[in-house]
Amino acid sequence: MERLQKILAHAGVASRRKCEELILSGQVEVNGEPVTTLGVKADPAVDVITVKGKPIKSEKKLYLVLNKPKGVITSASDPQGRTIVSDFLHGITERVYPVGRLDYDTEGLLLLTNDGEFANLLTHPSHHVPKTYWATVKGVPHGSLLEKLQNGVMLDDGMTAPAEVEYHDVDTVKNQSTIAITIYEGRNRQVRRMFDAISHPVILLRRIKFGELSLLGLKRGKYRHLEPKEVELLLKSAVKTHKIQK
Ligand code: URA
Repeated sequence: MERLQKILAHAGVASRRKCEELILSGQVEVNGEPVTTLGVKADPAVDVITVKGKPIKSEKKLYLVLNKPKGVITSASDPQGRTIVSDFLHGITERVYPVGRLDYDTEGLLLLTNDGEFANLLTHPSHHVPKTYWATVKGVPHGSLLEKLQNGVMLDDGMTAPAEVEYHDVDTVKNQSTIAITIYEGRNRQVRRMFDAISHPVILLRRIKFGELSLLGLKRGKYRHLEPKEVELLLKSAVKTHKIQK
């Protein structure tokens, strides 16, 4: 449920202010009933909303993938005026929201959409959608430590679920290594905290895969629209993993 003036503005009727004027002047109806006050909420997926007798257009569903650079906030707006992910969505006028989040210092694959149901399916904790990261860490963790990460480590909010972990690259000159890690949860700063727990702190974190979708070919700071097939695959992976875990 959303405020009527917000729904109208998102449907491209007019600016939010102008939409408020339309409501106050009695030109907006919800399910055949005129609405003339501003607090009223509606659900555009269920309610029939008309302006001057004409039904509003439903918002086109958008599904985007962005290669988020580090030093960017995963948020649709920032009162302090810092760089946010929407700053990279040139040409997109619809309001889209991030599907889950990446830390300020994490780069890589970020999905954005205006489809709330899609976002919920992919981020719901019970759906266990796999997310793969390349974590460049200090030093070279011993195999037994990677095994620990794989089986579960104790964090301050409990044990982590089993993960997939393997060496991706070892740089003995710089004394650092890059580990590919796939997790099926989405706790706050989870990957960083997992590597902190084995005393190999993360230097750089990059998400390279979300479900079956990979970042391949997308330059840092660039976005693209998902193909309908990719949207379908993502939805399937959320439903499938959900069923397996049940
Ligand atoms: N894990 C983290 O630690 N940070 C992220 O941004 C995502 C997963």
